Amino acid sequence: MQLHNRTRHGSIRFNRRQFLKAVGVGTIGAMSGAVGPFLGRAATAAAQTQQANSGFAPDLDIHLTAAPDEVPIFPGSPTQVWRYKAEVLKGSANSLTGIPGSYLGPIIKANKGDNIRIRFTNQIPGNSIIHWHGLHVPAVMDGHPRHVIPKGESYLYEFEVKNRAGTYWYHPHPHGQTGYQVYGGLAGLFIVSDEEEKAAGLPAGEYDIPLVLQDRSFDGDNQLVYLPGGRMEFMTGFIGDQILVNGNPDFSLAVSTRSYRLRLLNGSNSRIYKLAWQDNRPLTVIGTDGGLMEKPTQRRYVYLGPGERLELWVDFSDDPVGSEPALISLAFDAGIGSNGPMRGGMMGGGGRYPQRLPNGSEFPVLRIKVRRRVEASQPLPQRLSYVGQVSPKTAVNYYSPRQFYFSMGHMRWTINGRTFQMDDVANDEIVRLGSTEVWEFYNTGGGTGMMGMMNMPHPVHMHGKQFRVLERGGVVHAGYVDEGWKDTVLLMPGEHVRILVGFDDYPGLYLYHCHNLEHEDMGMMRNYLVRA
Ligand code: C2O
Ligand code: CU
Ligand code: CU
Repeated sequence: MQLHNRTRHGSIRFNRRQFLKAVGVGTIGAMSGAVGPFLGRAATAAAQTQQANSGFAPDLDIHLTAAPDEVPIFPGSPTQVWRYKAEVLKGSANSLTGIPGSYLGPIIKANKGDNIRIRFTNQIPGNSIIHWHGLHVPAVMDGHPRHVIPKGESYLYEFEVKNRAGTYWYHPHPHGQTGYQVYGGLAGLFIVSDEEEKAAGLPAGEYDIPLVLQDRSFDGDNQLVYLPGGRMEFMTGFIGDQILVNGNPDFSLAVSTRSYRLRLLNGSNSRIYKLAWQDNRPLTVIGTDGGLMEKPTQRRYVYLGPGERLELWVDFSDDPVGSEPALISLAFDAGIGSNGPMRGGMMGGGGRYPQRLPNGSEFPVLRIKVRRRVEASQPLPQRLSYVGQVSPKTAVNYYSPRQFYFSMGHMRWTINGRTFQMDDVANDEIVRLGSTEVWEFYNTGGGTGMMGMMNMPHPVHMHGKQFRVLERGGVVHAGYVDEGWKDTVLLMPGEHVRILVGFDDYPGLYLYHCHNLEHEDMGMMRNYLVRA
């Protein structure tokens, strides 16, 4: 494989020295005009939560650290990364599952109703904080960037797991640095189980496989390279040359001739996957961001935007031993980032570092190796869970939904023309505790020529909530699974979506943003306030 050292061309190369340099001067933050000088505030917030609450009885108590580490990704030099590590202080040792050889953090497993205490210690050079993506937790536990802590400090999380069974995840959320820190390796799965899920009769244990999809670029010495295209690539979002599954560039899954549950997370900074089976068998989707759907649904392909999860059920009973079915990503039009002009400059035509794997190109995602003949398989359950009624008329604003426009203004990504300000909440971002609302997200898109800069997908995410999709409009694409509970919805250029979201409990300040992490870092993120 041909790998180039891009360090002399303005990119960020991940080694210890550069870690310090890049974070210290806020390379990315400087570009976005936003790096968090919020130490005073953070220290206060941290101090407030330092003391474990004696009235809180944790079922699971863990110590989680983010620290520099190195992992063997390719032959030769190990790769310098940042990595979450954890130990169980109280609770079942099975609550943490490490992924050997991976930079990914341990998979945290919990049951609905569990009380969780996590003491997070930041040992990376730079401010950080952990966000529990998809979990419904109090605002002070949500990992808002105003709660960042500097290196050497700790933040105490205590919350009850209120979510249904499902595949959630955790990652850093310091404003202006989220893309950089996630890219450096900081991410992990948070899997919730409940009784309903156990009763559903799905493949479990070794037949329940978590799969984190990410893309990365490496230099000739196996070190991570971030944003080699500089400012212009920052605008579109990082797209890597190499697909990694669970942190492994050469991942394959050995299976028996039976059914499996595959839990997919798109943990990439900005890459979108259009997933399909290479041999055209239909995808059987059983779950989305917020857990199992009511019943399975079949698709020829599905989109998976950054931050989104999808659960597949697949049966290899009819696959001969020795066969290698593959999950692939199909080609699609990803807008401005798709043909990769950004690495060569706007007018460049090719450029010095043409992307080898542009967003929207076709590539294999997961190679499966059918290894062993077994007789018994588990059939696909026809009923998976109770998802709940959707009653849009219960919304207080049913006839005048809130509208949020995701677009570009003055060469910056904005929501309703605004960019992120740490404590800023506009009038149209304040909701009442106890209410249910209809929100509409618009990807304005639709421009041509230089205005084509606006043609990018935006995966729109809400913190602290799972919502229901009511309908999509505009330039509607196929390949979405909108049936179940969602916390992130992918919007292609020109597309919009109506969602129903309840604010029954937990007042406070939460985020909503584009989950293209470079867009987010650039400020395509805002607060919303749940006011009591
Ligand atoms: Cu994965 Cu602010 O979110
Ligand atoms: Cu989130
Ligand atoms: Cu975006």
